[in-house]
Amino acid sequence: MVNNSIGIFDSGLGGTSIFKEVHQLLPNENISYLADSKNAPYGQKSKEEIIQLSFKNTELLLQKQCKLIIVACNTATTNAIHLLRKKYSVPFIGIEPAIKPATLQTKNNKIGILATKGTLSSQLFSKTFKKFVKKDIQVTEIEGKNLVEAVENDSLDTKAFKSYFFHHIAAFKEQEIDSLVLGCTHYPYLIPLIKEFLPQVNIIDSGFAVAQQTKRVLNQNQLLNLNNTSPHIEFITNAEIKFLSKLLKKHNPDFINFKLKQLDF
Ligand code: SIN
Repeated sequence: MVNNSIGIFDSGLGGTSIFKEVHQLLPNENISYLADSKNAPYGQKSKEEIIQLSFKNTELLLQKQCKLIIVACNTATTNAIHLLRKKYSVPFIGIEPAIKPATLQTKNNKIGILATKGTLSSQLFSKTFKKFVKKDIQVTEIEGKNLVEAVENDSLDTKAFKSYFFHHIAAFKEQEIDSLVLGCTHYPYLIPLIKEFLPQVNIIDSGFAVAQQTKRVLNQNQLLNLNNTSPHIEFITNAEIKFLSKLLKKHNPDFINFKLKQLDF
């Protein structure tokens, strides 16, 4: 069982930002990554659709005998993880917007949250928000529109996108936030642009915390792979392979030993 893969799924390519952290912390682990790019963005879908897609992805990873599943998508986590945990016995790790660290790290009590519509409107998000955001903290929420698509289509480096994006997040500058929560796993790919527009802002993303939690849960369940052999890493997409392949090569230049497959799921 320890040799079985960690399964990771996302609405597309964004979860590769989580994959990177997990692979760095747990380099022995075999990993199967599912990119459901055909159905991206999840953030614009109804709760029922998000749940159905999350079940579909989970079934596929379970057919591959995955020993633990990371729901590397904030929208799927906030809308479906409780149902996945109810139905399946395999441990699930989710990605929740890092609101708590933002409230602890802010110095001027002004935080920003950038997330999808699906995440911002979820019950889990509102519960977390109510729990950690006290009255003295001012929050600026922006619903990311067209951002997931830009990551999926590799158009982040275009002039048109840059000007759209700076305009889209202008309220963070106007409100003088000092801490920004990235509430979507696609958004870490926007960090260079965010830093250019908001150089003083502390950006909080959940990647490393998720990797640590994965290690803890594997350990608790005696599922950690301690074999020192090179891992089997596979990426499966239901869209064109070229975008995933380009993104992996660009952001993981040292990491070359993986299989890339296209599958209709
Ligand atoms: C999306 O598919 O809309 C975004 C994925 C996420 O919320 O992490």
